[in-house]
Amino acid sequence: MTAQLERLPDAVLAYLEGTAGDGGTLRANEDAWQHWRFRPRVLRDLTGLTASATVLGIPVLAPIFVAPWAGHGLLHRDAEVATAHGAVAGGIGLSVSSGAQRRLHEISEVSGPFLQQIYIPQRRDNIRPLVDAAVQAGAAALLLTVDAPAVGNQLGFRAGLAGLPWTPPVNLPDAEPGTLGTAVDLGPHDIEWLASVSGLPVLAKGIVRADDARRAVEAGAAGVVVSNHSGRQLGGGLATARALPEVVAELGGRAVVLVDGGIRSGEDVVRALALGADAVLVGRPFVRALRDGGTDAVGALAELLVLQTRTTLAMVGAVGVHDVAEDLVRWDGEVAR
Ligand code: FNR
Repeated sequence: MTAQLERLPDAVLAYLEGTAGDGGTLRANEDAWQHWRFRPRVLRDLTGLTASATVLGIPVLAPIFVAPWAGHGLLHRDAEVATAHGAVAGGIGLSVSSGAQRRLHEISEVSGPFLQQIYIPQRRDNIRPLVDAAVQAGAAALLLTVDAPAVGNQLGFRAGLAGLPWTPPVNLPDAEPGTLGTAVDLGPHDIEWLASVSGLPVLAKGIVRADDARRAVEAGAAGVVVSNHSGRQLGGGLATARALPEVVAELGGRAVVLVDGGIRSGEDVVRALALGADAVLVGRPFVRALRDGGTDAVGALAELLVLQTRTTLAMVGAVGVHDVAEDLVRWDGEVAR
């Protein structure tokens, strides 16, 4: 018997595949990476070629993490634990959503150090149990999601929300309704607060502008995740592959830069590294893998992405992730405005 859940209700599919507006942000994300074309170097000594890296203290075979997404339990009985086994099998890192449906210590027993995603609600204290549990479970860093001031214009999701067979977010046992929402006055001070109560590095997730990246880091963020939530929040958003360079230029190596949105291959991973990212998060492909093939499919996808990353490094003449320079890619699309 399979541990995957059979026959998904329409509401579940609508939630998992949802995009805001006409879906244009997701399309722009996926499309934009293709416009960064490689200028490979040849005649390079590739002895010792490796894609491995240490990201926020987490050793990985390639700088790739499963993005934090809520809903593993809609697809698999073991929820995040199933995904964790796949990530470990493939040698990549794991991020965990605040809406996770397995206890953090159960997940981290499998994954080892992980990245914990956080939403800060209006009543800040409501999130303390989750922060404390993340620290206890050995989280390496917190990803504070800052691009969700409201529920996105996702018509399918909104229509089906009531029908979703959610199990409660188990790491927020005493949560009052609305705990997963974002405070209306979320600001830089919240980054400072989260860093001080957790003692962990905090990365602001959902940054697409240099000025916001600077404000986050000035408030004490250890870094940012250049992200537009895979187009689930705002329709008509700029592709993250276009936003990444201005954020990297602004932070100039002072902070960790992760990026997500439309990263689908090892080529895309190396493109992101060339543009200055330290690592990438991948979301929707892992959602589909868990849905279609459970742990094995998550592991196979992770393994494939690592292999593709390693091969692409060889093809562009880079012996490792720190050998990937900006001159390895060139934009071939419309001139930036
Ligand atoms: C997400 N994402 C997300 N982000 C977050 O900060 N907290 C969350 O709970 C969720 N939940 C969630 C559910 C589903 C079904 C998806 C597809 C995504 C966004 C996620 O972390 C990440 O930013 C994107 O998924 C990355 O883009 P790609 O790789 O999916 O294009």
